[in-house]
Amino acid sequence: MHTPVLLKEAIEFLNIKSDGVYFDCTAGGGGHSEEVAKLLDEKGVLVCMDRDAEAISRVKDRLKGYSCKKFFFKKSFKNIDVVAKKLGFYGRVNGVLADLGTSMFQLKDFDRGFSFSGEGKLDMRMDKDQYLTAEHIVNSYSEKRLADIFREYGEERLSKKIARMIVEERKDNPITTTIQLAEIAIRAYGGRKGRIHPATRIFQAIRIEVNDELNELKVFLENALKVLAKGGRLVVISFHSLEDRIVKVFFKDKAKKCVCPEWQMRCTCGGNNQKVRILTKKVIKPGEEELKTNPSSRSARLRACEKVV
Ligand SMILES: C[S@@+](CC[C@H](N)C(=O)[O-])C[C@H]1O[C@@H](n2cnc3c(N)ncnc32)[C@H](O)[C@@H]1O
Repeated sequence: MHTPVLLKEAIEFLNIKSDGVYFDCTAGGGGHSEEVAKLLDEKGVLVCMDRDAEAISRVKDRLKGYSCKKFFFKKSFKNIDVVAKKLGFYGRVNGVLADLGTSMFQLKDFDRGFSFSGEGKLDMRMDKDQYLTAEHIVNSYSEKRLADIFREYGEERLSKKIARMIVEERKDNPITTTIQLAEIAIRAYGGRKGRIHPATRIFQAIRIEVNDELNELKVFLENALKVLAKGGRLVVISFHSLEDRIVKVFFKDKAKKCVCPEWQMRCTCGGNNQKVRILTKKVIKPGEEELKTNPSSRSARLRACEKVV
């Protein structure tokens, strides 16, 4: 089971109208989708997207009893514009939600390769139809490229050392399992010492690379804004600082009235370029109660904005 994070807050910011059109772009286990479906009547529309086919069939099943109009797409959320056009909702959507990262279903299925808590294939694809896997990256990327990925996407202090050890190891033995990879990180740190497992950061980095997560997010944000109606809401929950920074910068940028270059002394753009109003002046984090009942929500950060034009 996947416990939806910041559920109450996400629903509040979506500001659900019972006959509105809503997109849950990361349907996952269907927790947020179901809460939206509860608030919609038979005129309301809920579009569920996920790039994981298993998530889509799970959510389809979970929402069977709800009377709103439902649509399901096994697609990356960066294609929200294509889906909205296909359904005739382009520019008419009242709310878009993205709850980034992986679901418990993905983490607990060791064969998906997202977790080092159990032995599994080095896979990490959210979309199983995709070609690139973690195994391919770990066994074929150059030492420099691996180190760059670990540093940029994992903020890994020992990026060069771990990359070197991977390249050494794979000369004799291809690295094919999660535990094999995690053990390299443990050796690099001289054992398991701190609170955070030594493999956490390289697993995050490889997962981001496999699924091109940061680029997907950037394209998604632009396209999500396009599909919203005036007054429509965009709510994004992220789980690490790289994602949160992208969302924060995007919102700030779209909330600017003036888009003239900073060096320009006088505004020549007309000063009426504001596309959104930021609803979360301060980022929203899980409260004590949620942290107690769902400790894995601790890194969740929610930001929301409203389209104003
Ligand atoms: C944290 S879970 C969502 C959980 C869901 N909100 C719930 O309450 O059950 C994240 C989901 O996003 C999906 N996902 C990640 N990146 C995606 C992308 N670019 N496009 C579509 N879905 C994506 C994953 O497959 C996963 O199912």
